[in-house]
Amino acid sequence: MQAIPLDRFDSDIFKLWDKQWFLLTSGDLKNGHYNTMTVSWGSFGIMWNKPVAIVVVRPVRHTFGFMEKYDTFTLSAFPEKYHNDLKLLGTKSGRNGDKIAETGLHVCASQRIAAPSFKEAELSVECKKIYWDDYKPEHFLDNTIEKNYPRKDYHRIYYGEIRHILGTNRYRTK
Ligand SMILES: Cc1cc2nc3c(=O)[nH]c(=O)nc-3n(C[C@H](O)[C@H](O)[C@H](O)COP(=O)(O)O)c2cc1C
Repeated sequence: MQAIPLDRFDSDIFKLWDKQWFLLTSGDLKNGHYNTMTVSWGSFGIMWNKPVAIVVVRPVRHTFGFMEKYDTFTLSAFPEKYHNDLKLLGTKSGRNGDKIAETGLHVCASQRIAAPSFKEAELSVECKKIYWDDYKPEHFLDNTIEKNYPRKDYHRIYYGEIRHILGTNRYRTK
């Protein structure tokens, strides 16, 4: 992986979120306190003239506590052969043991932030939290949205300023 300047970042963005998925990882590698979970809802864009990654986390997730406590997070995308590992990390909770150890994935240091990245990633987006809010059901204008919340566990939305992108050539325009 190499650093990718923002104006050279290129991806099939809808497929990347919806089909390939990311690991959202928050915490601090140096003190060994971090957690990861699979995410497929979110986006990349521009807000307040800053490049941002937007993720949503239900309060029941173990990762939620890390997102609240720590300033930074990473989004990591992987080659297809790790897809089952992302399934596992998106169904088991880090609250009940070391789920990363059950996969073929290994954390490693990020370049600009404290939250870890993954050695096996083909794309790693390093972010610093700049905003959060909670989804409010009274603001849902499409009544199909509420069906995602039978337990009323509305997501908290986080905006992270993108501080660094590392990726393979697949994610870089020529
Ligand atoms: C494909 C996929 C996408 C997911 N996307 C999200 C998401 O965007 N937000 C969320 O809160 N949970 C999402 N989840 C659920 C969490 O990944 C899952 O509950 C995980 O076990 C939480 O782990 P944790 O308790 O260690 O944080 C997704 C799960 C899968 C399989």
